[in-house]
Amino acid sequence: MCIAFGLQGGGTGKTTISFNVAVKMAREGRRVFFIGMDMGRQSAVYLWDKRVADHIYKGEIATIREYFRGKARPLEIAYESSIKNLFFVPAGHGKVEVKELKKSAALFSKLISEYKRYGRVIIDCPGSGGLSSALDYLMVFSSCDSFVPVVEPNEASIANAIRLANMAYLSNVPVNLVVLNKVREENYNLMERARKILTIEGNVIPVKYSDKFVDAYEKGAPLVDLYPESEEAKSIAKIAEVIERSARSVIKAGPERIKTALSIIEGQEVAEIDLSIFRHIKDLFRRK
Ligand SMILES: Nc1ncnc2c1ncn2[C@@H]1O[C@H](COP(=O)(O)OP(=O)(O)OP(=O)(O)O)[C@@H](O)[C@H]1O
Ligand SMILES: [Mg+2]
Repeated sequence: MCIAFGLQGGGTGKTTISFNVAVKMAREGRRVFFIGMDMGRQSAVYLWDKRVADHIYKGEIATIREYFRGKARPLEIAYESSIKNLFFVPAGHGKVEVKELKKSAALFSKLISEYKRYGRVIIDCPGSGGLSSALDYLMVFSSCDSFVPVVEPNEASIANAIRLANMAYLSNVPVNLVVLNKVREENYNLMERARKILTIEGNVIPVKYSDKFVDAYEKGAPLVDLYPESEEAKSIAKIAEVIERSARSVIKAGPERIKTALSIIEGQEVAEIDLSIFRHIKDLFRRK
């Protein structure tokens, strides 16, 4: 199974949540491939091994970018981490190009299906808005089995998530779990609203606002390891459990999957995304 965590919005906790879920699964004995799709930012590497991060920044180790260029094979870019069973796959610098979306999606699908033969795949999606991020998401949607929006408890974040969840759904990727992160007492009234993000039956799991997350982040350690008995670690465990219980492989993966999304996006209000570019992508698919 392959689960993508994301939201087009900075700092909602995508990396924190997805990374902790990956660690939790690995600690339970499952092999996990953690893909840091934060093209060029790789915030997750700082959470576990600064040396790897330095190598990536200096362009010294192969990443998804090299795989896309035919210079590395899938298992060659899955790096062993200090956590048993957990492998890190860095995206490297660069972005998905419009005219290459179809090809990128096909290659990405191959990459994911290779990892799925050996274990579970968790994708930490980028947060910045705009075109490059939209293309990144379409590429991810071509290949993942389920999408988990990591939402902050405010209307704008929820609206963003609904839009992205629809895009996922139109790509045949269900949304049956939403993480409402950084929740404080007064935010619980947004739980109902957050349920609107789900595209099929599922759960909204709140994760409270907590300094323990910041502390763990700054120490470069997973919260589930630092505070295994905490309420926060229990929320992470719940997310991992729901994923395990509900994940089903979406039958067909590959660029074909995002065709419907492209055909509908055009007619929608998609803030921050240049629609003319989507028309261009649509043409690519039409041409065949
Ligand atoms: N539940 C939480 N309570 C308090 N702080 C949190 C919580 N979750 C995440 N944070 C903090 O919020 C900041 C942003 O988190 P993180 O980097 O995971 O977000 P992101 O969505 O991946 O950001 P980006 O869009 O830059 O990729 C970090 O400092 C992290 O420690
Ligand atoms: Mg991040």
